[in-house]
Amino acid sequence: MKKLKYLLLLVSSFSLALSTHSQTKDECFNCHIQLEDKMAVDYKSDIHFEKGLSCAHCHGGDSKTEDMELAMNPSKGFKAKFIRKYRMNVCIHCHSDKDRMEVLGSKLPTDQYTKLEKSIHFQITTNNTGPVTDCITCHSVHNIKKVKDPSSKVYPTNIISLCGECHSSAEYMKNYNSSLPVDQVVKYRTSVHGKLNAKGDPNVADCADCHGAHDILPSKNPKSHVYASNIPKVCSNCHSDQVLMNKYKLPADQYDKFVKSVHGVALLEKGDVSAPSCNDCHGNHGAVPPGVESISKVCGSCHVINMELFEQSPHKKAFDENNYPECESCHGNHQIIRTTDKLIGVQPESVCLDCHKEADNNKGYFVAGRMKSLLDSLTTLDKSAKIRLDEATQKGMDVQDAVYSLKDIRQIILQSRTNIHTLNLEKFEEFIGQGYEIANKAEIAGQEAVDDYYFRRIGLGISTLVVTLLVIGLYFKLKKVEKQG
Ligand code: HEC
Ligand code: HEC
Ligand code: HEC
Ligand code: HEC
Ligand code: HEC
Ligand code: HEC
Ligand code: HEC
Ligand code: HEC
Ligand code: HEC
Ligand code: HEC
Ligand code: HEC
Repeated sequence: MKKLKYLLLLVSSFSLALSTHSQTKDECFNCHIQLEDKMAVDYKSDIHFEKGLSCAHCHGGDSKTEDMELAMNPSKGFKAKFIRKYRMNVCIHCHSDKDRMEVLGSKLPTDQYTKLEKSIHFQITTNNTGPVTDCITCHSVHNIKKVKDPSSKVYPTNIISLCGECHSSAEYMKNYNSSLPVDQVVKYRTSVHGKLNAKGDPNVADCADCHGAHDILPSKNPKSHVYASNIPKVCSNCHSDQVLMNKYKLPADQYDKFVKSVHGVALLEKGDVSAPSCNDCHGNHGAVPPGVESISKVCGSCHVINMELFEQSPHKKAFDENNYPECESCHGNHQIIRTTDKLIGVQPESVCLDCHKEADNNKGYFVAGRMKSLLDSLTTLDKSAKIRLDEATQKGMDVQDAVYSLKDIRQIILQSRTNIHTLNLEKFEEFIGQGYEIANKAEIAGQEAVDDYYFRRIGLGISTLVVTLLVIGLYFKLKKVEKQG
């Protein structure tokens, strides 16, 4: 019974083989496979073979004849060899021609060459022998696979060594650009992406997911996929894909939050490339950017002063001991918003309350409340002085010096907001105290100017009265003289 089944299976698979192998009509292949020619052996698993394409589709010649001479006749357009520089014209012939591809039953995009032409890999050549990477460098030839086929050279788990062949070789790279680092693969292998890729996971980011495939450009080029303002979209291709992220039990909200954050708005709306993009915090290839041992430290690479002050504060030790992330504990990570005085204090919006409760009779709670009320009073004094000085200015009094001194108060308020990070209440009080002094002086100057104004008004009134009386007196005097005269 089993034997019969096996025989049937053999017969059916044989006839299946006959019917699907339209290649039997390809005499080039037939003869070359008998010769056990490596090209032909490889070609058996090539996507083009699968699609019924003949050796002659690329090499020319007559694929219908068994006669070697006739088949490989230059008069039939046969080409035995290709010059390196022009070999990819063979591929472009079909892959840049939409109509031809459609005739062959394909709906693939036909933009690979137009993209490649503009890429960095096309612009540089070795001794005029053609682009450093052409279609064949990345896809091979005679052994070309669908890109989704795990044995394709560009399949996610294989592409690392493809790019790495050149990009990990200092020897090779120095011929082109000796200052270009050659550590991308090594660093990549230390990242979450790289580790999972090494385990065979095709869903994590590989070189081409971030850099593109045919349109790779230097990162400084604003059209590059990895340019600061383009990278959030690149990451969001995967990280905003809820279905994909569910598999890894990760949230898929980083992009949506980031675009609304103070950093995202600066980078994407105002075009301020000094604001961080995803890779500034997470690193390009490695786990975190160079020079920063943990992602928590990354904020300090830009916000240097805040970091220095934080490190002087009692929070530094306490956060380390409790394993609290440093800046993120108070500011968050993806949705960092512009700060306001509401963040500090003992009102519900204050971040201090997350850890310091009134009930605990806690020093942190006390300091939070005190710092907030100091800031609030200085703001109030500043406002009041401003109103007084505005009034004086409107009345035409010269209070320029006092108005100017208010700038110093605003500077003190700004700096105090930074100084919060030290948690040093004594210094904070002292510093805010300087603001009080300036505010008081300005208030007094304004008040004096206003008083002065009214004083002059009264003075003016009196003198006008006196003059009027004089004039009237004079008038009557004149009348009297007239009458007498
Ligand atoms: C009947 C057998 C036969 C047929 C049919 C045949 N070839 Fe060949 N082909 C050979 C042999 C044998 C060689 C090696 C001859 C040599 O080295 O001069 C060869 C060499 C080649 C070479 C390498 C030439 C070189 O100079 O290195 C190419 C390319 C090639 N064939 C392609 C084709 C194509 C394309 C067709 C169909 C249009 C084809 N062959 C049909 C037998 C065949
Ligand atoms: C998709 C296009 C394509 C197909 C199909 C194709 N070739 Fe090629 N073949 C090329 C290109 C391009 C080169 C040059 C590769 C290089 O320079 O590295 C080449 C090189 C060769 C060479 C080496 C010539 C030399 O430089 O010594 C041989 C032999 C060859 N092909 C035989 C075949 C045979 C036999 C078939 C069919 C079984 C076939 N090719 C199918 C594109 C093709
Ligand atoms: C005669 C036309 C023709 C030539 C020449 C040709 N191709 Fe193709 N290629 C096709 C067709 C048709 C397919 C199958 C498309 C499909 O499945 O939709 C294909 C598929 C591919 C694929 C797989 C794409 C996928 O679906 O993942 C790659 C990669 C590829 N070709 C690269 C090359 C390279 C590299 C060359 C030059 C060495 C080349 N092709 C030459 C017609 C051609
Ligand atoms: C630097 C390496 C590299 C070079 C050079 C290259 N490719 Fe690709 N190609 C890839 C990668 C990686 C993919 C898969 C990822 C993707 O599609 O974005 C791919 C995908 C493809 C596909 C599948 C359809 C598509 O567009 O996604 C085709 C067809 C293809 N390449 C043809 C070509 C042709 C033709 C050339 C030459 C003009 C070429 N490639 C040059 C790396 C390369
Ligand atoms: C997660 C996204 C991502 C992956 C994966 C990735 N890169 Fe990058 N790569 C970047 C970013 C972002 C930059 C540029 C950052 C900058 O300078 O602004 C970069 C820069 C580069 C550079 C320029 C030199 C340098 O190191 O700054 C090269 C070369 C490079 N990558 C090659 C690769 C190779 C090869 C791979 C695969 C092993 C790879 N990249 C994987 C994001 C990525
Ligand atoms: C055959 C060798 C080779 C292969 C394979 C290769 N590259 Fe390159 N790549 C180069 C050379 C050479 C340069 C130019 C260096 C220069 O002049 O700055 C370059 C430049 C780059 C740059 C621009 C670097 C910069 O900022 O100046 C990036 C990014 C890059 N390649 C990524 C990739 C990726 C991703 C892959 C794989 C899909 C890849 N390369 C495959 C040789 C190669
Ligand atoms: C091709 C899809 C893809 C792209 C593009 C991609 N990632 Fe990922 N990334 C993943 C997947 C899948 C994981 C899940 C691995 C895990 O953590 O188990 C991951 C993990 C991560 C992690 C680790 C999360 C954790 O805590 O485990 C970080 C951080 C990360 N990616 C950042 C980025 C950044 C930044 C970019 C853009 C520069 C990016 N990724 C681009 C697919 C991608
Ligand atoms: C200002 C710095 C910063 C920026 C910008 C940033 N991240 Fe993060 N990201 C963090 C921090 C901090 C964490 C917490 C991880 C930790 O503590 O190890 C994190 C966590 C993650 C995680 C792990 C899962 C999670 O949500 O906790 C992923 C995935 C991620 N970020 C992706 C992104 C992507 C995608 C972007 C760009 C759209 C981005 N990040 C922008 C700092 C940043
Ligand atoms: C690559 C540099 C860079 C990195 C890294 C960075 N920032 Fe920023 N950050 C900026 C810039 C630039 C702005 C100003 C944006 C604006 O004002 O439009 C800013 C703004 C801010 C603000 C708002 C300031 C205000 O005026 O209210 C806070 C809070 C902040 N960042 C916290 C963080 C934290 C926390 C981290 C780490 C998780 C971090 N930043 C990482 C550059 C950076
Ligand atoms: C204990 C909570 C807390 C921690 C930890 C913290 N901050 Fe702040 N940060 C605040 C508060 C509260 C404000 C708002 C002050 C205000 O506007 O009154 C602020 C304001 C800021 C500002 C805007 C004011 C300015 O200085 O320009 C920046 C930027 C900032 N923080 C960055 C950081 C960085 C970077 C870290 C990590 C080194 C950090 N913060 C750690 C609570 C914290
Ligand atoms: C993530 C939790 C957390 C947040 C948020 C936080 N703290 Fe703390 N803080 C601590 C811990 C833990 C300590 C050390 C133990 C203690 O004294 O409570 C501490 C200590 C302090 C101290 C020193 C107390 C002493 O005994 O010397 C002050 C002052 C302080 N915090 C003020 C603040 C202020 C102000 C804020 C809001 C801007 C704040 N903290 C936000 C966790 C936090």
